[in-house]
Amino acid sequence: MTLTINELAAAGAAIAIADRTGMFVRLREGPATLEELAPEQDTEGRMSAKVLSVLVALGLLRFDGDAYALDPNTAVTPALQLGGPGQITERWMHLERMVRDGAPALMHETKHRDQAYGGVVLLLEKLLDDAARRLAAELTARSPKRVLDVGTGSGVWSLALLEACPECSAVGLDLPQVIPRFEARAAERGLAGRAVGLAGDYFEAPLEASAFDVIVVGSVLHLETPARARALLTRLRPALAPGGAIVVADMLMTDTTARRQAVAAYALELALRVEGGQPHAAEEIRAWLEALGLTVGEPLPLDEVRPTGMGALIGAS
Ligand SMILES: C[S@@+](CC[C@H](N)C(=O)[O-])C[C@H]1O[C@@H](n2cnc3c(N)ncnc32)[C@H](O)[C@@H]1O
Repeated sequence: MTLTINELAAAGAAIAIADRTGMFVRLREGPATLEELAPEQDTEGRMSAKVLSVLVALGLLRFDGDAYALDPNTAVTPALQLGGPGQITERWMHLERMVRDGAPALMHETKHRDQAYGGVVLLLEKLLDDAARRLAAELTARSPKRVLDVGTGSGVWSLALLEACPECSAVGLDLPQVIPRFEARAAERGLAGRAVGLAGDYFEAPLEASAFDVIVVGSVLHLETPARARALLTRLRPALAPGGAIVVADMLMTDTTARRQAVAAYALELALRVEGGQPHAAEEIRAWLEALGLTVGEPLPLDEVRPTGMGALIGAS
């Protein structure tokens, strides 16, 4: 560990205050000087500068001697993109209750998945775009013609594949309120004619046997317990055409030093908002795919840009 508890606690406190006073939200609009940041946000300049120095030292902000700006990695923080002041730290206020009760403290996402995801999938698209293009480049070699994108959201995984494979068409399966996002993104990316939305529950929607060369399950299994994640893969297997592949792209639980912190933080945050949600280990997913008669290679890292733990397992029939 490179930072002491006190240094980490100072970092957490500086993040919380910059969040709650609206400094992060102001910086989301563009660079700002201390004078622009502190008075606008009803804070005292000299003390605010100390907070900002901690954030610069952490690499969350950049300072050019005049103005502060969000580091590009900070700028894609989902809560920061979506919310107003206090959104980044709000959910962590519920951590003690979760730890004491042993249950997710924020149940909105568990109880109302369709509403919850309608709003965030476009942001996920920005976060996952590089990973999706990397995976698409890998899958192009398989020359897929028909793709099923399970829990498609914005269609980030399948639409990248359509762009890479002109012969390919895709079905995006998601809850009814999310499907319009998929269809809108397909149209905006000039792919409307090759992408069709299928509204339904991924455990129940009717799927034709042997209909798909690639079935992508992207950023979905972490929403499910191990038993349900495995059941979902089992339920999808008959829809795979001979010679096709089921592809799981997700945050993979790992012990690699560079990724341990990212994945542990993600697992904790997920536990706050999704009942039973958890990143699964690559070896566990491999065993589920192999039990379905699929051959699985080494996990493909999809986090070269930032070590988030995102990776893919390809189970080929
Ligand atoms: C974390 S998002 C991932 C979206 C997209 N695959 C991506 O990687 O950006 C999970 C997606 O699964 C969908 N989903 C969750 N439970 C579902 C269910 N039971 N049936 C169908 N879709 C579901 C959500 O609506 C959401 O779009």
